[in-house]
Amino acid sequence: MSRLDTLSPGTREFLERPKGLLIDNEWLNPLSGKYFDDVNPSTKSVHAQIARASDADVERAAKAAKDAFYNSRWHNMAPNERGTYLWKLADLMEIHQQELAELDSLDMGMPIRAARYGTVPLAIDHVRYMAGWATKITGESIGVSVGNYLNYTLKEPVGVVGAIIPWNFPLLMAVWKLSAALAAGCTVVLKPAEQSPLSAIRLGELIIDAGFPAGVVNIVTGLGDEAGAALSRSPLVNKIAFTGSTAVGQTIMREAARNMTRVSLELGGKSPNIIFEDANLRQAVSGALMGIFMNQGEVCAAGSRIFVQRGIYEQVLEALIEQSSKLKVGDALDPSTRMGPVVSEEQFVKIQGYIEGAKSQGGKIVVGGSTANQQGFFINPTIIRDVTDDMTVAQEEIFGPVAAVMVFDTIDEVIERANRSWYGLAAGVWTENIRTAHYVAHALEVGTVWVNSYHVYDAAAPWGGRKMSGFGREMGKEALDLYTETKDVWINLDR
Ligand code: NAI
Ligand code: MG
Repeated sequence: MSRLDTLSPGTREFLERPKGLLIDNEWLNPLSGKYFDDVNPSTKSVHAQIARASDADVERAAKAAKDAFYNSRWHNMAPNERGTYLWKLADLMEIHQQELAELDSLDMGMPIRAARYGTVPLAIDHVRYMAGWATKITGESIGVSVGNYLNYTLKEPVGVVGAIIPWNFPLLMAVWKLSAALAAGCTVVLKPAEQSPLSAIRLGELIIDAGFPAGVVNIVTGLGDEAGAALSRSPLVNKIAFTGSTAVGQTIMREAARNMTRVSLELGGKSPNIIFEDANLRQAVSGALMGIFMNQGEVCAAGSRIFVQRGIYEQVLEALIEQSSKLKVGDALDPSTRMGPVVSEEQFVKIQGYIEGAKSQGGKIVVGGSTANQQGFFINPTIIRDVTDDMTVAQEEIFGPVAAVMVFDTIDEVIERANRSWYGLAAGVWTENIRTAHYVAHALEVGTVWVNSYHVYDAAAPWGGRKMSGFGREMGKEALDLYTETKDVWINLDR
């Protein structure tokens, strides 16, 4: 059954409107006249036609952003005024939060409850947090020893930012990049993922309603190797902020090298979630389940390698099996759904391939491994036991609801195995022992460690990876470093 009749009037009206490219505060048709299908993964039906930006459209958008950077008052605007625009935007997002939640849910399969009470409120809070930073960006004065000089630094906006984002948290990823860049005084060209452009387009409408000057935010929907590639090699773009796959991150870095465009990359992961024998098992089991199955496992930080200490291995596995088979899989717009469909046929096939591969490598599927129903791209929560470190499912990012459960004996062994990954994004540690907690937290080669919790995010807490998970920190005050350049000024005080 289709749940489209449950959509709010605002969402239905939005779906009826044509979807153009946002350039210089106008919604324009793509120069080529080409559009592409946008699919609802819960039903496999097409729900919108999306403008397909070409190189020429991306150049138009980058030029608008460049003009706005130099000519509009954006980076010379009083910081508190820039902050006020962001506050206005956050207020409008709050008024329209039901629509924003419905659009992500419809577009990529995030359960509506998770969108409405999780990611959309986080996105709104993020805009407000960054609005506050607009007035708090400061350089410093430096005591130099070479003579009688006043030496100080300025933090200047880097210029035009190209933001390229994935489909797993469409609105949140747009906002992480936009709000920090705008607070810092940059102008932006945003390229949403082709699987999930709707919430970014709605955000663009709200940006116009909030009164942002023309060209400050431009949104070019389109394909990765077309619009995304054009953005990453544009000489008008000063910085690319990317979240997505490691392979595309590498391509972007190579393209950006032509113009020495700055890059920050938030890439994949294969995050360990480590449960020690002394853990609070009730918390650890529910944390491990949420760690892998939240958002259908389509999370860069998914706790996809669950390491369980030998003494509690069978007990934990039993609890994981019991609880995961109770997770309700269904249409993302159904408020009782705990896990929606995966985003696309491509991902569906890829995930099934990993499950089949695990079987042939000797992994035992103890729950799931199947599709829930054929109406959408549904995959049941899947747990594989007795996984060894050399199996593909222990090494590669699956980006789906598939947990590899492994056994370990000692603390140093599990640290070594957790770090034996080319990724280094996040990790979980479950223990009641404070020494174990800190010891492991310090030893892991990752950007974030959660102790006795998993998947907690806050606008104030820095986020990003090491190794093949990328570099740069979004969120928190460190996000501003991505969008500013430091200038050092010497004033000779000798008369
Ligand atoms: P992707 O990395 O291809 O797409 C992410 C964004 O990059 C999209 O906006 C896309 O249009 C753009 N893009 C693609 N090719 C580009 C290019 N040559 N130049 C510039 N931009 C380009 O991710 P995809 O194909 O959707 O998913 C494939 C795999 O990537 C997933 O199975 C998952 O393992 C991983 N992934 C990881 C994410 C994360 O947050 N760590 C998010 C999305 C995907
Ligand atoms: Mg792709």
